[in-house]
Amino acid sequence: MVPRTLPVALSDDVGLPVDIDDDRLDSPAVLVDLDVVDANIERYQAFANRQGLALRPHSKTHKSVTVAERQLAAGAVGITVSGASEALAMTAGGVRDVLVAYPLVGRRKLERIAPLVRRAAGDGITVSLVADSSEVVQGYCELARSTGRTIPVLVEVDTGMNRVGADPAAAVKLAEEVARSQGLEFRGVMTHAGHSHDASDELGIEAVGRQEAMVMGGVREDLEAAGLDVRVVSAGSSITSAYLTAADGITEIRPGTYVYNDLRTLGRHACTPDALAATVLATVVSTSGRRVTIDAGSKTLTPTKDATYGHGHLRHRPGVVFTRLSEEHGVMDARDDLPMPSVGDKVQVLPIHVCVWMDLQAEVYGVRGGRVVQRIAVDAMRHSL
Ligand SMILES: Cc1ncc(COP(=O)(O)O)c(C=O)c1O
Repeated sequence: MVPRTLPVALSDDVGLPVDIDDDRLDSPAVLVDLDVVDANIERYQAFANRQGLALRPHSKTHKSVTVAERQLAAGAVGITVSGASEALAMTAGGVRDVLVAYPLVGRRKLERIAPLVRRAAGDGITVSLVADSSEVVQGYCELARSTGRTIPVLVEVDTGMNRVGADPAAAVKLAEEVARSQGLEFRGVMTHAGHSHDASDELGIEAVGRQEAMVMGGVREDLEAAGLDVRVVSAGSSITSAYLTAADGITEIRPGTYVYNDLRTLGRHACTPDALAATVLATVVSTSGRRVTIDAGSKTLTPTKDATYGHGHLRHRPGVVFTRLSEEHGVMDARDDLPMPSVGDKVQVLPIHVCVWMDLQAEVYGVRGGRVVQRIAVDAMRHSL
C-alpha cells in the first residue's frame, strides 16, 4: 500500500499512459523501464536455471510486491528480505516464501515478526530466519516457544566481508546448536560476499566469487560429515553469482540489484549499459554560465558517491557532470562545447546505488516506450525495522 499521506509525482486522477515529458508528471520522480526490468529478470532466471541454482531475489532493491511478483512468475523460489518489517510487507502483498537474511536481535524485532511466524504454516507461508551466534539462536528458540511454531533457520557464514556471519570453522557447532534446539529446524547455510564491491577489477571480483563458492562448499562438506542435513546453501549477489555453480555445493543465489542495476553493478562488470532500468527524472531549475542545477539533490539521489561516476550520471547528456549535491539541488557543470540545457528541461539521472533510492520513494513509475504505463508502489519504503 502506498502511504497516501505522502505526495507523489503523478496524482491518481491522471490516467495512464502518460508521456514522461508530460507536465502533469512532477519531478523528481523515479522511472523504471519495464522492458529492461523484464529482460533483467529473464536473463538472471535463465542463468540460474542453466546453473541448476534456485533464485531467491533480494527485495531490498525494489521493495515492491509488484516487482517481486514478476520475479516469482519468472521462476524465483521465494524472496529474500532484509528485516522483520520487510518480511511483513512482502507477505502482506502475497509473497509466500521469505528468507529474512539478517540476524534478528532484540525483543521488538522478535515481537514484530511473531504474528507472521504464528500464522505462516496455516497460511502456507514459509518464513526462514538466519543466525550467526548463540545469542540469536536463543532469541529464535524463545520466538518458537511463544508462537508454538517450528522455525526454519539458516546459519550465516562470513566468507570474507567481515560484516556478520559465523567464522566458517564455527559453522558446524552453531548448526548443531540450531539442530538440537526445540522449535528450530536447521535448514542450511547462507552468506553474502558484499566485499566484491571493493575488488579493483574483474579478476578480483572473480576471486571473491570463487572464494565464496569454495568456503560455502567446504562448510557444506563439514556439516554433512557431522551428520547434518543441508537443504540450502545460499550465496551469490548480482556481482558474484556468475562465479558460483551447483557443482560447488551451492543450491541458491540471492541477487538484488540485478533487477534494476546501477552504476555500481555496471562498474563491477555485472551488467551492460542497456540493463540500467531506473533513472530519476529531474527538472533543470537554474542555470548560470556553464552551471546547471536540477531539482534532485541528496534527499533524492542520496549522498552516495562512486570513484568513477561521482554522484551519478545523466542519461544521453555525457558532457554534464555533477559537481556537488545539496539536499534539494543537484549542481552540475556542462562542457563548453555542448549546448546548455535550459530552465524547465527534463533530464534523467542514472543511479550510483539504486537500492537506497527506492527506500525514499512511495511509488515509482513503470515506463514502456517513453510513456508511464504503471504506478508501482514501493511497499517496503522505509521498512528498516
Ligand atoms: C544478505 C544479502 N543478500 C543478498 C544481497 C544482494 O546483493 P546485490 O544487491 O549486490 O545483488 C545483499 C545486498 O546487500 C545482502 O545484504
